[in-house]
Parts: sequence; C-alpha cells; structure tokens
Amino acid sequence: MRDLGTAFGFAVAYDSSTNSTVITSGKVSLVFNDKDYTIKTVTFGDKTITYRAYENIIYVSNPVDANYQIMNVYIPEEYFEGKNIGSYNAANAPIFLPNKVGGYMPAKPDSPGFKQDGSPNASLIALSKGYVVASPGARGRTLKAENGMNTGKAPACIVDLKAAVRYLRYNDKIMPGSAERIISNGTSAGGAISSLLGATGNNADYEPYLEEIGAAATRDDIFAASCYCPITNLDNSDTAYEWEFNGVNEFNFAGRQGTLTEEQIKVSNQLKAMFPAYVNSLGLKKADGTPLTLDSNGNGPFKDYVKSFLIASAQKALNKGVNLSAIDALTIKDGKVVDIDFEKYIKYITRMKPTPAFDALDLSSWENSLFGTATVDSQHFTKFSKENSTKDGTLADAKIIKMMNPMYYIGTKGTTTAKYWRIRHGAMDRDTSFAIPVILATKLQNEGYDVDFEIPWGVGHGGDYDLEELFNWIEETVKKAK
Ligand code: DHB
Repeated sequence: MRDLGTAFGFAVAYDSSTNSTVITSGKVSLVFNDKDYTIKTVTFGDKTITYRAYENIIYVSNPVDANYQIMNVYIPEEYFEGKNIGSYNAANAPIFLPNKVGGYMPAKPDSPGFKQDGSPNASLIALSKGYVVASPGARGRTLKAENGMNTGKAPACIVDLKAAVRYLRYNDKIMPGSAERIISNGTSAGGAISSLLGATGNNADYEPYLEEIGAAATRDDIFAASCYCPITNLDNSDTAYEWEFNGVNEFNFAGRQGTLTEEQIKVSNQLKAMFPAYVNSLGLKKADGTPLTLDSNGNGPFKDYVKSFLIASAQKALNKGVNLSAIDALTIKDGKVVDIDFEKYIKYITRMKPTPAFDALDLSSWENSLFGTATVDSQHFTKFSKENSTKDGTLADAKIIKMMNPMYYIGTKGTTTAKYWRIRHGAMDRDTSFAIPVILATKLQNEGYDVDFEIPWGVGHGGDYDLEELFNWIEETVKKAK
C-alpha cells in the first residue's frame, strides 16, 4: 500500500491498535490548522482554565505510524483574545514539551489532567501558568508495520521528537507560544530522549531520517531540557553500573530475581575495570578546575564528586527534618553530613539489574531491543557484549549508537545544544549508575551550559515529583534568558 501511495500521492499509516491500515489523503499538511480544536475547561484550586485542545496532529508529512507521530497542543483561550497571562502573551509564551516515553516503548501524547494522587500533572500546571503545552507521541522499539517490519527501532524516538519540534517552529508565526522557548521534559527513557533533544539540536546526522518521514525543513534546537533519571549514555552504562554495583550480587529486575553466577561476577569485574578509562577519556573537571579522574580501582576525584552530590542531598533532607539516623552509610556530626560510605550506601539501595545491565549477553534487555533494525529484533551496542554474546548477536550500526547518546554531541560543531538544563536522578534509583547523570551534567557544565543538577534524597526511579521546583526553575530560566 505504501508503494502505491508513493506512486499515487497518498500516505499510508498502520494503526497497530486496530490492526488496520489508514490512508491519509495526499501528503499530510505540516500547516497548523487553527480551526480544528475543541474548547475545554478544567478547575483546580480556585482556578478555572479555559483552553483550546488540538489533539492528534500528525507532525510529519510522511508518517510511518499515524498513531504515534502525533502531537497534542493545548493553548490558553486568552491568547486568542489578545490577552496576557502574567507576563506571557501569544507571542512570547513558553512551550512546554512533555514526552511520555518509557522503556523506549512507543508513546502517546500527554494531556493536562490530574495524577493518581489528585494533584495536577505537569501539563496542567504549565497551562495554568500561561504556557502552551505541546506533547508529542513517538515511535518505540516494539512497533511493527503490517508487513511485520519493525518501525520504531533507534533512532526513531529522537527523530520523531525532533520532527515535533520542527513542526512547532515551522508554525511559530501562526501558533500562540514561542518556538524559541521550548522546554522539553521526560522521565527515564523519556528523560534520555529529552537529553538528546537538548544536546543534538540541528545536527546533520539526523537529517536523512527527518527527511524520510517528511519533517518540516527547519531548525530543531530547543531552549531548555528537563531530564528525570535519564537512561542515557547507553554504550557506557554497563561499565558505569559495575563501577557502582560490583560486589553486590543479588539483583531484582522486571520479575527476574537472583544472585549473580560466578561467570557473571567475572563479567562484573571486567566491566568495572573498564570504567576508569572511559571517565578519564572525558577530561571532566570540577567547577574549580580539579580533574575528575579515577584510578584503576575506580577510586579518585570522580568518585568523591559523585559522593558530594549524595552528601549535599542528604544534607538538604536533614535540613528539612528528615530522620537519617537509620542510614549507617552516612556520617553526621552536629547536624552536618560530613561523609558517605559509598560501598555501604550502594549495599543499602541494592542492585537492580544483573550484568551486563544494559547490553545483555543474551540480547534480552530493552536496550538490545531498542538497537534492533527493521528486520532484526535485538542487537548488541557495545564491543564487550558483542564479543561475549551468548546468542551470536550482531552489533548495531556505529552511527546509530552515536545518535542515541547525547555525550557525543554536546557543544560540538554544527550542533546547537540547549543552553539550560535541569537534571534529576533519585538517590534510591538503581536503574542506571549515579555516574551517568553526573557525567552528563558535568560535561554540559564544562562546555559552558547552565545546569541545575541534584540527586534528591530518598527518591527512586521516576519523574515529575517536584513540579513546584521544576516550574520555579523554568520561570527563572525564562526570565534569565530575556
Ligand atoms: C527505563 C528503565 C530502565 O531501567 C531502562 O533500562 C530503560 C528505560 C524506563 O523506565 O523508561
């Protein structure tokens, strides 16, 4: 059908939820239709918000999957009446861009509403502050076309989010909100995509993929990236994980529980030993210029630096009155957290994943599936796991591995990296090593970007748990940039 469509000038999309083919007449228009909306109102606290909901907008002209390459846009009604909300108006209102990607799976767009606990979600808070909300869906690793081909393997998720950003910029003049003030937000795999969106703006590597799906021919850089527990830097995550968890042999992940075998402990030792060379190759520095290196045992200034975020986090909790007396990894003197025993603390939080944590030797991880191709379900993405594969797995294309890792792009030539960053990774989060967000935040800082990074105490794997602070940060950032 798709071939016929190309010949006759219509686009074909596959609806995986109904198992049917959708024919969209001609190429999908990239021009925002300001008439196609419904009016909605929502009340929370003493506020009633009236807004226009533009839902399921296809943001590319050649969609591969019209169920996911879609965006919901929500705009305060005031902006259609020439009114202001605080200091914002139709021309300057920031655009909040939350994605709901999790597990690198296909994701639908989000909507303003309430969380399970009854509190407003991020989109609703954004709307209440006068932001335009644009939530893109994206293809993910399990998506298939009707012919059985995989359609959402890497780099589809980041390509789709870039296409959504391009749609907003392409329509900037006719849509309320400023495409020069896009703030991306995501959690976990979604935090990783948010970090990619922030890091890789306008880089040419993504261009062929964007052209293929008919993304608008314009810039895709963004103003700011908010990243909760980004599961990123995947090709270095196995060594980082063993640097942190080596010696803790019990694991418990996604229904699989057990103890590392002798063979796995050997692998853990090998991976741990590889991590210092990676950290040292980055040339990271503390704000005072101290080089953040590791010795061959994985000790040194970089480890102390990671510890310093945990200490600062424990101190913040202590200052708020949290009782930390049961955490024997901490040394507290006169109301001051003076040290953390890293090994003890890691035993306390426990290991989640077996080893290798990301590039599984038997190709069983979510990330193996992410790096599949149209015809191959799962692949390796590190030399180590390819060489030690128990399934004779193939290695993903080097360029695609690169395109999924923001570390290779930050501040490089031909790239417009977002100026403002907020990164959070909970102090109880074991989905990836603390080293991963520390490396990302430090690299950004070293390259001159504005980074707000914390490892909040007692917080596990998740996001959007501190929305008041998030939106305070966004407001300050928007003001600062004026
Ligand atoms: C997510 C969690 C993981 O542990 C992982 O490896 C990839 C993604 C997630 O929650 O999105």
